[in-house]
Amino acid sequence: MAELLRLEDVWFSYDGRSYVLKEVNFSVSTGEVVSILGPNGSGKTTLIKLFIGLLRPSKGRIYVKGLEIHKKRVEELARSIGIVFQNPNHQLFELNVKRELVFALKNMGLDYIDVEKNPWVARLNVTKLLEKSPLLLSEGEKRRVALASVLVYQPDLLVLDEPTTGQDFEHKRVIAGIVKEYQRLHGRAVVVVTHDMDFAWEVATRFIILLNGQVIFDGPPHEAVDGGYVERAGLRKPSLLSLGLSLKSMGLKVEEYDINSYVRALKEVLTSR
Ligand SMILES: Nc1ncnc2c1ncn2[C@@H]1O[C@H](COP(=O)(O)OP(=O)(O)OP(=O)(O)O)[C@@H](O)[C@H]1O
Ligand SMILES: [Mg+2]
Repeated sequence: MAELLRLEDVWFSYDGRSYVLKEVNFSVSTGEVVSILGPNGSGKTTLIKLFIGLLRPSKGRIYVKGLEIHKKRVEELARSIGIVFQNPNHQLFELNVKRELVFALKNMGLDYIDVEKNPWVARLNVTKLLEKSPLLLSEGEKRRVALASVLVYQPDLLVLDEPTTGQDFEHKRVIAGIVKEYQRLHGRAVVVVTHDMDFAWEVATRFIILLNGQVIFDGPPHEAVDGGYVERAGLRKPSLLSLGLSLKSMGLKVEEYDINSYVRALKEVLTSR
């Protein structure tokens, strides 16, 4: 696993008085899917803006592939870290969706001739939107176009801010599938900022939990739940775990987090009746 991003003792303040981020330390390496979780206003979006220098830390250092970000060329940084922001309206400005994707590829100095054939475009159900104006799309469609416009150039680190907002069940499945596939690509990693605990639980290899701008947990997802950090941050437990606990309280023998054991236990109950 090679390190893609590292934050060292990062602090950030918008007004020069109170800190929105305090003493943040972590790194992200290839092959990981890191989910950044935390309540509204805990500093998640601010944090990812720091990754590409949209905001500068008040204190501390940020490294991308071993080099401090202000020492990197802008294009190099953009190819290393691709962010899909929470509000797609800030990211889409071309006349039609195809031009949006062409712009993204051109910007990175990549071939844009066959953009229609790019597999991510089809996967995200964006093919049929190519001739449409981004402004006229539904919120869910806009978000998928914004995601496609970053996926087409395959940054080393894909950063998604609330990717499941406004997506129906089918498209949530598609996005979860894409995140897992991206993680397996050589030299790539994903950071997902989300409130959607079930989505985070499904895709993440690691949780980072922010509360009032501080990292209160960084480690394996099940430890975040078992250690009470998820509750402390006011987040709800993953449904899979809640279901297991309900079955347990009914006296069924189930392995926590293991859906197959839930099915087995329920079958036993039903056949013994
Ligand atoms: N441009 C800004 N100027 C001043 N304060 C800001 C600005 N943007 C965000 N903040 C404040 O910084 C804090 C963190 O905001 P941020 O958007 O990073 O939170 P978040 O965790 O992404 O929240 P959400 O879950 O609602 O997206 C909040 O208190 C917010 O009001
Ligand atoms: Mg946010």
